[in-house]
Amino acid sequence: MVNHSRPLSVPEFVALKQAGRKITMLTAYDYPTARALDEAGVDSLLVGDTLGMVVQGRENTLGVRLEDIIYHAEMVSRAAQHALVVADMPFLSYQVSVPEAIANAGRILKETRCQAIKLEGGADQAATISALVGAGIPVMAHVGLRPQNVHQMGGYKVQRDAERLMNDATAAEQAGAFSIVLECIPRELARQITDRLSIPTIGIGAGADCDGQVLVTHDMLGLTSGHVPKFVKQYADLQTIIGDAARQYCQEVRDATFPAEEHGFR
Ligand code: KIV
Repeated sequence: MVNHSRPLSVPEFVALKQAGRKITMLTAYDYPTARALDEAGVDSLLVGDTLGMVVQGRENTLGVRLEDIIYHAEMVSRAAQHALVVADMPFLSYQVSVPEAIANAGRILKETRCQAIKLEGGADQAATISALVGAGIPVMAHVGLRPQNVHQMGGYKVQRDAERLMNDATAAEQAGAFSIVLECIPRELARQITDRLSIPTIGIGAGADCDGQVLVTHDMLGLTSGHVPKFVKQYADLQTIIGDAARQYCQEVRDATFPAEEHGFR
């Protein structure tokens, strides 16, 4: 665990690649979870638009609004004492025009106190990345599987167009992105991109050679109902723990064994 009395800065995050220290990132959407992850020493917390699926119960991320990200990122930023907090730009908050992207990203930084934003795109978003960075807004890019393009991609599939993905990654770096998420691409291609770039690559379904890894916290804690992608390792089974606790509570209320004497007042 890095011993910081303040959150990791963007330059410190980038320096982890040069230091050869693997970077850890997990998603967070609320104060208590963010606090637990932060205290565990996670380097960076991502307020991902996956909140549309794992918190709001939607079928994809497209319905997430800028206000949702601001609402959740504000709670996460308040909890983070050590981790760099990055907030996702939701669908159509940056694709319409560069001025709109700057205004929306600026709102996220001003209203949530997070330190950076993430957007999905590489070469196609280079002008926007460059303008955001020019306005003083650190940008994490995201190439490979881009969930906001789910309809165009025809589903959540492994991305294998090596030339296009390398071009996207290098374009994002040249535009000024400080880091880049590589989602669902073959391990060897992720290794080549990681070797080529001087900014950290953060993999999800991209193998062990990336500079860091990110997972959706609800997936790795066993809180996601339905399909969980192949690249997820489940580190806990919170769905079962919560269900068992709730069943025991119901039983004890029905038996009148809760509340006991010590839970009341005289
Ligand atoms: O929205 C999100 O949580 C993400 C991660 C899956 C990288 O983009």
